[in-house]
Amino acid sequence: MNKEVNQDAKPAYLAHIAGCGSSAPTKKLTNEDLSKMVDTSDEWITTRTGIKTRYICSDNETTALLATQASKQALDMAGLDPCELDLIIVATVTPEMVFPSTACFVQKNIEAVNAWAFDLSAACSGFIYSLSIAQQFIESGKYKNALIIGAETLSKITNWQDRGSCILFGDGAGAVVLQRNSDGKGILYSTMSSDGSNWEALSCEAYGSKYPACKKLDDPDKIYMSIKGREVYQQAVRRIVESVKHCLKKFDLTTEDLDMMISHQMNARIIESASKRLKLPKEKVFMNIAEYGNTSAASVPIAFNECYRQGKIKKGDKVIFVAFGAGLTWGATLIQF
Ligand code: UT7
Repeated sequence: MNKEVNQDAKPAYLAHIAGCGSSAPTKKLTNEDLSKMVDTSDEWITTRTGIKTRYICSDNETTALLATQASKQALDMAGLDPCELDLIIVATVTPEMVFPSTACFVQKNIEAVNAWAFDLSAACSGFIYSLSIAQQFIESGKYKNALIIGAETLSKITNWQDRGSCILFGDGAGAVVLQRNSDGKGILYSTMSSDGSNWEALSCEAYGSKYPACKKLDDPDKIYMSIKGREVYQQAVRRIVESVKHCLKKFDLTTEDLDMMISHQMNARIIESASKRLKLPKEKVFMNIAEYGNTSAASVPIAFNECYRQGKIKKGDKVIFVAFGAGLTWGATLIQF
């Protein structure tokens, strides 16, 4: 079902990105390293996915740690005291623990004593979903400042013997500070969608209430991510194109009006194919998948932070975020930075 946000009413306030940050573990795993672990090659991975390296956590690096590091950088750029935060959302499918939420650990770590905090589970679309939730609170005038984080440690649920999936994913976190703004800049429009009937295309089945940790699994591989790559590939291209077009149309814009597309980094070929259909030139499509691989909910905010810090987007630019992932879930957010 498709959900649209902020299409007709012109709110007095917009949720504007005042700061951004990102973080990654120290260890880098190359395609060469992987070719010593499974039957694959740098050539196969590069040509099929565009990925060359990915960052992988050590045992003592966790989702809350990466989320906290990214958050501190975003708060620093915004020049905001953590005490002024009203809300913290962490989008993740690899949380610190079953509970409490990763967001509560971040709140403790940064001492955001006046914020309430929760996690959101929407896989690769989690950051887009979280932005739109915070957008509602800010546009309504209820809150001034929100911290939105995408953070994942997918390496901890990766089957390192499955060459079909282990080459794709990496760990990391990205964060943005959203702030109430009345000069017309900020989130202009968001769209989100889900299709639960296709859940089997991408999943990690244990451990939850269906397959609890206290019961022996019929298939021990249920603790790992499993993907039907080809199925996801085709859907991803279609949904990215659809979401971007939908956002632009609702705001009476064309791809020519866009300054940058920041897509979820799932496969360079998927992003290139979608950009081609959208008639977006290369210089308006940011990619850092070669270095990071697919970091799920962390992917869009990490890419946004890098794009900004490389000077490829500036204040006032129109930027679109777009993501697609497990659920299935997908969505896009159009912003004026
Ligand atoms: O964020 C959402 C999550 N992201 C995704 O789900 C990713 C979406 N899908 C994809 O990115 C691509 O479908 C993959 C990269 C996963 C796979 O690429 P593909 O071009 O769709 O390859 P394929 O699955 O059709 O496999 C082609 C061949 C197969 O061999 P045969 O049957 O043709 O002999 C695979 O067994 O490539 C083989 N293969 C590999 N070979 C070397 C699969 N994985 C590997 C590998 N190294 N790592």
